[in-house]
Amino acid sequence: MTIQQLISARVQAALAAAGAPDASANVQPASKPEFGDYQANGVMAAAKQLKTNPRELAQKVLAALDLDGIASKLEIAGPGFINIHLDPAFLARRAEAALADDKLAIELPAPQRVMVEYSSPNLAKEMHVGHLRSSIIGDALARVLGFLGHDVVRANHVGDWGTQFGMLTALLVEESQQGTAQLELNDLEAFYRKAKVHFDEDEEFANRARDYVVKLQGGDPEVLALWRQFVDVSLEHCEAVYRKLNVGLTREHVRGESAYNDDLQVVLKDLEASGMLAEDQGAKVVFLEEFKNQEGEPMGVIIQKKDGGFLYTTTDISAVRYRHRELKLERVLYVVDARQSLHFQQMFSICRKAGFVPDSMSLEHIAFGTMMGEDGKPFKTRSGGTVKLIDLLQEAEERAYQLVAEKNPELPEEDKRRIANVVGIGAVKYADLSKNRIGDYVFNWDTMLSFEGNTAPYLQYAYTRVQSVFRKAEDYDATAPVVINEAAEKQLAVALAQFEDTVKDVADSGYPHYLCQYLYQLATLFSRFYEACPILKSEGEVQASRLQLAALTAKTLKSGLDLLGIEVLDAM
Ligand code: ARG
Repeated sequence: MTIQQLISARVQAALAAAGAPDASANVQPASKPEFGDYQANGVMAAAKQLKTNPRELAQKVLAALDLDGIASKLEIAGPGFINIHLDPAFLARRAEAALADDKLAIELPAPQRVMVEYSSPNLAKEMHVGHLRSSIIGDALARVLGFLGHDVVRANHVGDWGTQFGMLTALLVEESQQGTAQLELNDLEAFYRKAKVHFDEDEEFANRARDYVVKLQGGDPEVLALWRQFVDVSLEHCEAVYRKLNVGLTREHVRGESAYNDDLQVVLKDLEASGMLAEDQGAKVVFLEEFKNQEGEPMGVIIQKKDGGFLYTTTDISAVRYRHRELKLERVLYVVDARQSLHFQQMFSICRKAGFVPDSMSLEHIAFGTMMGEDGKPFKTRSGGTVKLIDLLQEAEERAYQLVAEKNPELPEEDKRRIANVVGIGAVKYADLSKNRIGDYVFNWDTMLSFEGNTAPYLQYAYTRVQSVFRKAEDYDATAPVVINEAAEKQLAVALAQFEDTVKDVADSGYPHYLCQYLYQLATLFSRFYEACPILKSEGEVQASRLQLAALTAKTLKSGLDLLGIEVLDAM
C-alpha cells in the first residue's frame, strides 16, 4: 500500500469505530510542518453529518486510531483536524526498502492491458510543434504505466489516408519521371506545398490527383506502392524526431488510419443493425441525445457522407473495435489536443451505445491545451509559419550548448555536445510536462533553460550535485541503516516515501505534472537537508545514514526523470 493509502485506511477504520462508518477520512500530506506529516481532515464533515461536536468526535477517532509503528505522535488541532507525525523508524525502514529494490519498493497494482495512443501526426506534412505535446505527454504516461507493471501497448495512429495522399502521390510520379523525387522528399513541407500549388493551379494535375485517390482506395497496386513509398519517407522523418526527443515510438507502433479502411463498410453495417443510424440529407448519421447543437437539437455525427466517403470518426470507431477485439485492451488513453474533445466524447458514446465495447473497457481522452508563443498566440515562426519540430529541437540543443560553453568553456567538445543534448531536450520536455496539461502554455526558452525554478536543468543539476557527494565521500556502505534524527532528515524521508503515491496518481489521472511538482519539491527538500545536515563533515553511523538518504534521493530523482523521458548526467 502507498503511505497515503495506509494512513487513510487506518483513519477510516477509526472513524467507523467512532460511529462514522460512511465518513471519508480525507487524509492529505500536511501543508505545514507544524501540522505533522499528514493530516486527516474528514472529522468535521463526519461530525456535521452525525450532528455531534467535531472535537469530541475527533477524541473518539483518536482513541480508536491504530497507527502503531507508523506514527509516533497524534494530536487534535483546530476544529477537529488530526495531525499525524510519522515515526522516524518507520520512515527509515521504508527508505531502506526503497534503496534495496529496483522499483523503489513500490507495490505493483493488478496489471492491466493499457494502450497509450500518442503522437499520431498526419503524414502528409512534416511534424510541427503541434505534435510536441502529444508525443511528450503520451510517452511519459506510457513509461509510468510500464513502470507500474502494466502491459502497455504504444500506438501511433498516424494520418496516412485521405484525399491529400492522392495529390502527394501524383507529384511523386511526376518527380520520379524527372528523377528528383528522392531529393524533394528531404523537405516534406516544401513537397506538400508544391503539390498543393499544382493541385490548385493545374486542372490536369488536380484530376490526376483525384484519380489517384480513387485508385488508392480501390487498392490499385501501383498507386499503393507509390503511396507506401511516400508514407515510408514521412515516417523516417518522424522517427528522427522521436530519436532526438527520446520518445519510445518506432515503426512497430504505427497503425495508421489506412489500416481500418476495409472495415469501414462493416462499421456502417453494424451501426445500421444496431438501429442507431439515420439518413440526413443523403448522409448516414448517428444522432446523440446527450449532445445538443446551438438550436438545442440532438447533434448528428456523420458516419458516411452523401458521396459515400467515410470520416475521421468512422475510422476511430473501427479502431476502438480493433483494440477491444484483437488487442483485448482494458484501458485506452488517447493523448490528443483538447480541441478534439467533442469528437472523442461523441465517438466513445457511439461505441458504447452500439455495444462495440464492454463497460469494463475504459476509454479516456487525455486532452491538452495549445503551445503558445510570447505573444499569447499559437507558437509560430517570426514570419507566421508553422515551426518544424526537428528545427525546434535543434534550436533547444544549440541554446543549451551556448549555456554550457559559457559555464564550462574548458570542457571537451564531445562532453559539451552531450550535455547540450540532455539539457536542451530535457528542458523542452519538462517545460511541457510540468504544466497542467489541460491549459495552454507559453513557450519560453529562457525560463525552460534556467537553472533555477521548476525546470529540467534545475533537477538535472540537483542530481549531479548529489552524485558529486559520492565522488567526495571516502567510503559508502550501500547497506548501512538509515537513522533519522534531524527535522530536515525527516522531511526528506517523508518526501522520499511519497514517490509511490505520486507515480500512481499520474497513472490514474494521466497528469504528469504531479510528478514534476513532486520532483521539484524533493530537490528543494534535499537542498535544505544538505545545508542543515552536513554529510561529508559528519562521521560514523550518522554519515552512513545521510549518505543513504542522499543515495535514495539520487535514485528517486533519476527514476522520476526517467519516467518523464528525461535523462540525467553524473556531472555537468
Ligand atoms: N492525426 C490526427 C491529427 O493530427 C490525430 C489523431 C488522434 N487520434 C485519434 N485516434 N483520432 O489531428
